[in-house]
Formats: sequence, structure tokens, C-alpha cells
Amino acid sequence: MGVARFALCKISSSLLPRMHRPSALRQMSVAADLKNSTIFRSQGLIGGQWVAAHDGKTLQVNNPSTGEIIADVPFMGRRETNDAISSAYEALNSWSKLTATERSKCLRKWYDLIMSHKEELGQLITLEQGKPLKEALGEVSYGASFIEFFAEEAKRVYGDIIPATLADRRLFVLKQPVGVVGAITPWNFPLAMITRKVGPALACGCTAVVKPSELTPLTALAAAELALQAGIPPGVLNVVMGNAPDIGDALLASPQVRKITFTGSTAVGKKLMAGAAGTVKRISLELGGNAPCIVFDDADLDVAVKGVLAAKFRNSGQTCVCANRVIVHEGIYEKFAEAFSKAVQNLQVGDGFTEGVVQGPLINEAAVQKVESFLQDALSKGAKVILGGKRHSLGMTFYEPTIVTDVKTDMLLAREEVFGPVAPLLRFITEEEAIRIANDTNAGLAAYIFTSNVQRTWRVSEALEYGLVGVNEGIISTEVAPFGGVKQSGLGREGSKYGIDEYLELKYVCLGDMNRK
Ligand code: SIN
Repeated sequence: MGVARFALCKISSSLLPRMHRPSALRQMSVAADLKNSTIFRSQGLIGGQWVAAHDGKTLQVNNPSTGEIIADVPFMGRRETNDAISSAYEALNSWSKLTATERSKCLRKWYDLIMSHKEELGQLITLEQGKPLKEALGEVSYGASFIEFFAEEAKRVYGDIIPATLADRRLFVLKQPVGVVGAITPWNFPLAMITRKVGPALACGCTAVVKPSELTPLTALAAAELALQAGIPPGVLNVVMGNAPDIGDALLASPQVRKITFTGSTAVGKKLMAGAAGTVKRISLELGGNAPCIVFDDADLDVAVKGVLAAKFRNSGQTCVCANRVIVHEGIYEKFAEAFSKAVQNLQVGDGFTEGVVQGPLINEAAVQKVESFLQDALSKGAKVILGGKRHSLGMTFYEPTIVTDVKTDMLLAREEVFGPVAPLLRFITEEEAIRIANDTNAGLAAYIFTSNVQRTWRVSEALEYGLVGVNEGIISTEVAPFGGVKQSGLGREGSKYGIDEYLELKYVCLGDMNRK
């Protein structure tokens, strides 16, 4: 099956981190089993062929939980990206000319295959990303749901007939695929951020070049293998990885790429937006957040604790919609802090394959150092740690679930996305103040409020400058609702009936001289 350079590291068990010896050994056996699976791939996909980098260079994919090398994958760059773009461009004509039903059937098959390989895909996600297996399996269902949804939506791309202003004319609006799409995706959702982009793109007739994160390419390659097995023709979906700046530049420079879709940091998103200007490409950006979670004094405390817990600690705090600032009414601040601490201290930290673990490692050392520097900044300005506050005794990149009180709006923890398991608690007195604090940021992706007052629900939801608002609920993402931010959190929407518009061009056709005999 053309599996290249699988490199399950042969480290002696005595070299494994002390606390992790059993889990590392278990993970090595999971990795070995996955190696023999029909979905395991460790080469790039260009024009339906599994290929190495032109110069044979590779990069290692590591397990963040153990440090083990899972596999080597090709370190690709401009040349391979240009090959992938050419393949996608060649495939565009035939793929876009299939009927919507034909494309829909391929996508549905892809969905079925993803679901029938749910266990292996979940294991792959846990292995290369670190999230607990249960959460990884949840991501497989979530990721697959975008393929299923857009397989159905493919058949509902309707145009329009416009009442003409002249009797001998007929006016039509056609919806057509934008063309070749460059999709650049992050490590925190190795599957779902790909399917949320590629699902609608392929459904309406676009072809794609995907660049997954170099930290988590194996899930992307497995998903691409399943796309081939589903009968999605060669060239329709291509995957390259390696030198991220070079791949990004090649996608931006090519006039054949008509759209860039990106999930990742705001800084990179801004560069892509500037770079897309050269060839005037369409662009969708899903960038960083700084989600406020407002807990009003009329909230049901249990609902609020459960909701904030979910919104903060999903994926160990490594999602763009994770609660970044918990803004609590003065009157219930202490009570909430106490109840929240009790819940957080029960979160079991460990490797994702261990039963009961709900907090995996952070993705890498840089992520831990970021958390540490934010915390240091807060402590130096008067904040207090009431739970956690340091690296976990498990070592590697495990970090203790942490709660910080007396956080002020000028602290880094309140100004920027921490992307880790740290919950900073801020105080407010009036509703206006809560809204002002919540909106005092350049980000505008997700916000959460906890209240039992219906009027307040509407008032505050309308006042929040965010693309998504959760009310008494900490997990609100779904394939059927539009996902995306305002302000510097991005452009465009993903998922839902709106998500497919990002991959469609409107064409106005004027049919003249209707009365000619
Ligand atoms: C993200 O973190 O970018 C995605 C989160 C989600 O889809 O809920």
C-alpha cells in the first residue's frame, strides 16, 4: 500500500519519561497497529499518487504525550505545491461538470468510510495531537458531519431568475464553483478543520490542495486515503505538507488558485490576506478568539460551572472558541470560584489513551511556555492562582488545569488567547460593564453568557460583537450552524447552508432578443 518511511521509534522503555512508561508502550502498540491499517499514509497526495518530496526530505511527526516519533512524512515545498495545484486545476473541469448528485454520492461514500474507520481515525488524532481518545472520536463524528451535510447541500445550490426590466430579455443568476481552493488547516482539529473546508468546496465542484499542520498530517493523509477509496477522482483532493511558508507562498502566487481558506493564528491570517491581494483571490479566515464567558448573578450555578468547564477545557484549552476570560458578577464571584475549582480539580490529566483522562498534553513546548509567560505576567500584576499554575508532574507538555482570580483587563491573560488550560476569572458589577469588558478586544469569534433572564439573553447576545454566542451552553459548534468571527477573528462562515457560498461565484446571464423569430 505504498506506506513510506514509517518510523515507529525504537526507544528502549527505560528511556521513556518515568510517569509515562506504560502509556508510551501502549501508544507504541497502537501506532504499530495503525501502521498496518488500510488508512495509514505517510506520503503526500498529488494527482491521486502518494508521493515523497522531490528531494526526498522528510519531517518527523511526534506524539506530544510521549515524545515518540510516530512517522516521517515528506517535507514538501513550492515545487510539490505547484504540482498539486496543476493536478487540482486539471481535475477541476471534469469534477465541476459532474452532476450535483454524482458529487453528492462520492461525498456520502467518503462520510460512510470515515465513520466506518472512526476508531482508527480517533486513535490517529490522539496519537499525533494528544487529545483524549473520547474527544478524538467526537472529533471524527464532528468532522464527518461536515462531509455528510455538504453531500446533501450539494443538491441545493440553486441559482435565480430575476424579473427582467425589458420585455425581450431574461435574466439569470448561476452559481458556479470558484475553482481550485487552497486550504490551510491547524493542528488542534486535525480532521474537522479539513472536512469543514473541503466538504463544501468539493460539494459545489471545486477541487482542493490541502496543507495540514506539519504537527498533525497523518489524520489528513488518512482522510485523503478514504476520499480516494470513496471514488473521489485523482487530483480533486491533494495534500502537501512541509515548508509552510513556501507552500503558502506557492498557493498565494498561483493564478490558478482562486480561493484560500485558512484556520489558524490571526498573524498568519493577516499575511495570507495581504498575499491573496496579488492575484485577487477569494479568502475565508477563521482566526484567533478571546472568548468572554459572562456569568451573571441570576445564572443557575451548576449550569454555569458545567458550561464554563466545557468551554474552557475542551481540547485542554486549545480551541479558538475556548473561553479565554471568565467574567463573573461580583455578587457570586467567590461562590462561583469555589464551585468551579471543585469541578476543575476533578479533571484527570494524562495521555489520551488512558481511561478517564479528559486533559491531554499541550501540543508542544512553545505552547507551555506561552501559558507560563501569560501566567507570570498576571501574577506580577496582582492575580492569584487558586488551582494548578504549573507544569504537571507527568512531565512532557502536560500542564495542570489552572484557575486564576483577580485578573484585570490589562493582563495578557485577558488581552490575548492563552490557548491552554488556564481559566482567568475577572469581576463585573453591571451588565453594561460586562458587555464593555467582553467587547474590549480585537477578536470576535465566540462568546458565552450564563443567565436565567430571557430579556437579558437577547439584550446581551445582540450587544456582543461576536460571530457565535452560546447561552447557558459551553459547546455550541455544529455542522448545521454558521461558524466564524467578526473583527480580527476572521472573514466568512463555515458549516451550515451559508458555508457553501464561500466556494461559489455568482454569474449573471442576460438572455437578450427573446422576440427574434
Ligand atoms: C477551532 O478551534 O478553530 C474550531 C473549534 C470548533 O469547531 O468548535
